[in-house]
This record gives sequence, structure tokens and C-alpha cells, in this order.
Amino acid sequence: MAAAAEEPLFLRACRGEPVERTPLWVMRQAGRYLPEYREVREKTTFLGLCKTPELAAEVTFQPIRRYNLDAAIIFSDILVPVEAMGVQLDFNPAPVLATKVRTEADVDRLIVPDPVKSMGYVMESIRIFRSGMPKTPLIGFAGAPFTLMAYLVEGGGSKSYSQAKQFCYEHPKVARKLLEKLSETISAHLIAQVEAGCQAVQIFDSWAGHLSKDDYLTFGLTPTLRIIEALKKKNVPIIVFAKGAHAALPELSQSGADVLGVDWTTPLDLARQLTGDRVVLQGNLDPSVLLGPIENIQTQVQRILNEAQGGKGHVFNLGHGILPETKPEHMGALVEAVKRLGVRRVPA
Ligand code: CP3
Repeated sequence: MAAAAEEPLFLRACRGEPVERTPLWVMRQAGRYLPEYREVREKTTFLGLCKTPELAAEVTFQPIRRYNLDAAIIFSDILVPVEAMGVQLDFNPAPVLATKVRTEADVDRLIVPDPVKSMGYVMESIRIFRSGMPKTPLIGFAGAPFTLMAYLVEGGGSKSYSQAKQFCYEHPKVARKLLEKLSETISAHLIAQVEAGCQAVQIFDSWAGHLSKDDYLTFGLTPTLRIIEALKKKNVPIIVFAKGAHAALPELSQSGADVLGVDWTTPLDLARQLTGDRVVLQGNLDPSVLLGPIENIQTQVQRILNEAQGGKGHVFNLGHGILPETKPEHMGALVEAVKRLGVRRVPA
């Protein structure tokens, strides 16, 4: 179909279609490692930046202008919906929540917000990006239920997320109720982002790796399945990044997600075996490699491309967000290496 051939590389790769080059984007590609980001960021708070569509769209444009990446991700944060649910939020720069969810009454107090009414600025940022850079595919995103629950129970980030897990073990019914409320909120938020113009979505389960496989299936994957189910009707590629949950890759590959993010601890050839080549893989350079010499960046890029070869498809990315101390030239070296080494012949 002619229309399909004109689709951007990133979207074709997400659908498992043949591509002439491995596409690439980078988690947290808009951020503090870029001087132009820090310049915009100085004008306001982090949440102020998220809530000012012209500025949020501007920092979304920045890494595309500088590196011509194959996809953009809208500038926002996974915790934006938590504020819309009624929990006061601050960034310092790490997130701080004003209250902790500990009881059923706390769960009942949380609102399932109308995303357009309460987070309309995200949809406006999406519209500004799409009209300014119509050729670059735009990814919408949300946190997964378990990861958001972890912040709600802990009141912020944590080394072990032990309080969040204790909550699951002590009050499994209440935990499930909270996860269901989060699934509803996240589904509506992602659908609104697609309706505003996002052409793919990523669900970040950043703290999945703190759970045993069995607990991940119960508290992580099960509520995520509801979101995938709700999003299917929108017909955009769904990327699930469950960091550290490699033992659950077989189950994740049958979740309905089109693309699975893989962190750097699991080689992509092993991930291919675990997923039976049913899904496209995304990843998985260790973000710390970008802090080291350029020759090593190139060597590691080649290794990852080799490990991904022959699978259903591959989207190059880091195995987690880019570190703020990364030199912009080293990110440039990554982009150059993927664009040069990732070229392949399209099967006839
Ligand atoms: O470029 C992009 O990827 C889009 C923007 C984006 C941000 N956060 C901007 C941000 C995305 C996709 C996120 C997702 C996010 N936020 C995740 C999932 C991804 C991951 O890293 O696992 C998580 C866990 C959060 C929660 C969060 N937000 C934390 C823990 C922090 C502080 C981290 C730090 O670096 O100190 C934030 C703040 C945040 N979100 C910043 C940015 C650019 C730094 C804030 C600043 O500019 O001061």
C-alpha cells in the first residue's frame, strides 16, 4: 500500500514492517544534558514547564532539531496524572507528593480525572508539536499502574519501594482497587494524547524490577493489560517498558503490546528468545556508556545491532533515561553510529 510505504521509519519499525535503517529515539531525550533545555528550564519550575504548552513543545523540538531523531516524546512527566487525581505534587528535582496513600479511604478520595479538563495543557503541547514538526512521529506516554502506585504509597521515590510492596501484601484488595483506578486514569490519559495527535504511546513501568516475577504478573502486568486493551481501538503502536522485568518477557510478549522496551542487563538476543520474536524490541544501550569514550559507544552500538538482528524488529534506544551529565557530543556520536551502522537491506 503506497500510504504505508510513506509512513515514518519509526512507526513502520514499531509495526514489525521491514525498514531500511534501525530507527532511534532516546528516553528523556529532552532534558538537562542539553544547554538549550537548561536555558528554557531556568525561566520556570519543572511543573511550570510541563504546564506551559509553548515551552513544553519547545523542549520537545530541541533534541529533534539538534540530532534529527526518528521520533519525539512529548515533554511532560509520568506524575502529572497523580496531581490530577488530587495529590499535590512538587519536584525538587525528584518528585515529592504532599500525601501518602495508606488506607482504603485514601484510595476512595482519589479522583479519576477527565484528562482533557485536568491535563489539557498536555494535549495542547501535543498539538503545537504536531503542527510545528508534522513529519516527526510523536510518542505520548504514561506511567504504568504499579510505578504510579509506588509513588503514591511512598510519597516520592524510594530505593527499595518496600512500603509500596508492603501495602500490596498487607492490603491486596485495596491495592487492586488502587491499581484499577490508576488503570482507568492512565487509559483515559493515553487515549486523549492519541486523540490530540500522538502516533504511538509508551507505558513506563520504571520500578517493575523491584518485584518478583510472580508479584510483577499480579501487581504490574495485570493492571497494564487493561490499559493495552483500552488502547487497542486507537490502533497506534503500544510500547511497554517494564524495567528490570526480563523474567516476565514471555508474558509481556503476549500482552498485546507491539514493542517491548528492554534494559541493558538483558541482551537483545536473549530477549528475542524469551519473546519468541512475537514483538519488536526497543533498547538497550546502558546510559552510562554515553559518559565514556566515543569508540566504546560505537562498539556497543554495533553489538546491540547484531544482537537484535533477525528478530521481528528493533527500535534503538537506551536501556533507561539519558543521564543529565551526558555530553551533548556523546549523544551526537550515538546518533551518528546508529544511523551509519543500522542501515540494512530491505528484503525483496
Ligand atoms: O524526553 C522525555 O523522555 C520526555 C520527558 C519525560 C520526563 N520524565 C521529563 C523529566 C519523561 C518521559 C519522564 C518520565 C518519568 N518521570 C519517569 C519514567 C522514566 C524513567 O526514568 O523511568 C519517571 C520515573 C519519572 C519521575 C521523575 N520525574 C523523576 C524520578 C524525576 C527526577 C529525576 C531527576 O533526574 O532528578 C523527574 C523529573 C523530570 N522529569 C525531569 C525531566 C527532564 C528533571 C526535572 C528538571 O528539569 O529539573
